[in-house]
Amino acid sequence: MRWGSSFTFVLFLTTAPVAKAAIGPVATLYVVNKNISPDGFTRPASVVNGAHPGPLIIAKKGETFKLNAVNQLSDITQERGTSIHWHGLFQKGTNFMDGAAGITQCPIAPGNAFQYSFSADSAGTFWYHSHFGLQYCDGVRGPIVIYDPSDPLKAFYDESTVITLSEWYHTVASSISGIPVADSTLINGKGRFPGGPKTDLAAVNVQQGKRYRLRVISISCGPSFTFSIDDHNLRVIEVEGNAVRPITVNSVNILAGQRYSIVLDACQPIGNYWIRAMPSSGRRNLPISFDGGINSAILRYKGAPNSEPTSVKQTTTNALVETDLHPLVSPFAPGRPQADGADMTVNLTFGFDPTTKKYSVNGAVFEPPSVPVLLQILNGARTPEELLPAGGVITVPRNKVIQVNVPSGLRGGPHPLHMHGHDFSVVRCADAGHFNFLDPVRRDVVNMGQTRGDFVSIRFKTDNPGPWIFHCHIDFHLGAGLAIVFAEAPYQTPKANPAPESWKNLCPIWDALPDDIKHTKLADKGVVNVTPNSRLSPCTIPAFLRPSWCEVSGSRYLSFNP
Ligand SMILES: *[C@@H]1O[C@H](CO)[C@@H](O)[C@H](O)[C@H]1NC(C)=O
Repeated sequence: MRWGSSFTFVLFLTTAPVAKAAIGPVATLYVVNKNISPDGFTRPASVVNGAHPGPLIIAKKGETFKLNAVNQLSDITQERGTSIHWHGLFQKGTNFMDGAAGITQCPIAPGNAFQYSFSADSAGTFWYHSHFGLQYCDGVRGPIVIYDPSDPLKAFYDESTVITLSEWYHTVASSISGIPVADSTLINGKGRFPGGPKTDLAAVNVQQGKRYRLRVISISCGPSFTFSIDDHNLRVIEVEGNAVRPITVNSVNILAGQRYSIVLDACQPIGNYWIRAMPSSGRRNLPISFDGGINSAILRYKGAPNSEPTSVKQTTTNALVETDLHPLVSPFAPGRPQADGADMTVNLTFGFDPTTKKYSVNGAVFEPPSVPVLLQILNGARTPEELLPAGGVITVPRNKVIQVNVPSGLRGGPHPLHMHGHDFSVVRCADAGHFNFLDPVRRDVVNMGQTRGDFVSIRFKTDNPGPWIFHCHIDFHLGAGLAIVFAEAPYQTPKANPAPESWKNLCPIWDALPDDIKHTKLADKGVVNVTPNSRLSPCTIPAFLRPSWCEVSGSRYLSFNP
């Protein structure tokens, strides 16, 4: 008996770094405040089920997720509301489960819960994160994997595991003013900061002779990461839920929100090797060095000593180039193979105001409205003139091919643009200078490019009615207005998305809360005076959904952080 239990304990210890218990497709997510020290520095955070990143959520393709998000947040220096987005999942017929506060729902009030129920309709590597204020930067985020029992990629690997990359701050997001500068890089939730203690780093355990599908997920709020593993090649086989023709490189730059499945062949001598993730920005020497184990984790072969690697970075870089990525199946982009070959072309313009530090899209600084766009549509609003925020909603008709042209070179880039409700064919990649309609990569976060005068183009088919936000995945830029909503097929949206009662209850509960719970105390940045500048004022909706402040004469307030 004694033998048995201590043996089990030893086994658990050796596998613990990679084998955190996964949950799903039916599970409860407790969103709580907790002091955590992922890099040796302790600070208050907001986390899911006590962990950062939150637990891996899994399902088999075709199953239904039922994820009950229970809001137990209480720290007045961080966001108290919450709302969870399932990044990369299309939510066909369940737009109201997309989790984007102000777009598809009101936040879940503290002390309340909301069950997200939606289909796991495509296999691949995804993630979940808060889509309310800057909350995911404080820790509400984690990986999702949807397994395909007959995976067409299975021939390429023997085992699979998840590697998350993120930056980390020593202060809560609401107290960051000016340009946010990260203190450390976390790989699978562990890291070190320059000059900090020698805390444990994440270890990925492998066995010589096996091939590992590493599902690399950027859960970053800001910087991109250049990912590499000493002495090993990386074979990319999946991009954001899409199988791609395998391509071998040794370095992958990954922007906030992006994911790659990378096969690592454990073919080197038994030993320890550095896994490296160099961020594009950070405090002190974070973005230029690996000294003392910063920006690093450990690849550990079975049989290797329990010590840190002494391996050196590969001197020749063979970096992944986006134009080299091609879908494994159905590679053609929708529409005709020419620059004006879509049914509808949307030319976006972008701006940055150095005085206000706000971004604009088509002249409008995006601020999530207090009445979610979906609720506005369910209440009868249909046209861009009727929908709030003014200038922030573009309507697109059903069953058409839409091409969105995005000019490159916007300040503060490279900006990763993410589309909800769809992935898209990148018919013109960043800094490429040419189109590809034949076999362009399909993904859901695209680099909008740095080359002034050039542009990036994406195409998607409007087969999914509902309002979908298209935004920069640098969360601080979303907070500064870098977003627009595509209201897809607004006339068909109510019928296509039958919202449950539990969803309808979210707004009345949230709107009844006092302002100091709706907004963090530290930075009273959430309260913005607005004049309703559209025919659909939030105060003209049915009484049972009307925010309480509609009854107050005088100023009106938005309920979300700008
Ligand atoms: C979009 O911009 C391109 C290039 O400037 C132009 O040729 C095209 O007519 C524009 N389309 C729309 C719908 O504005």
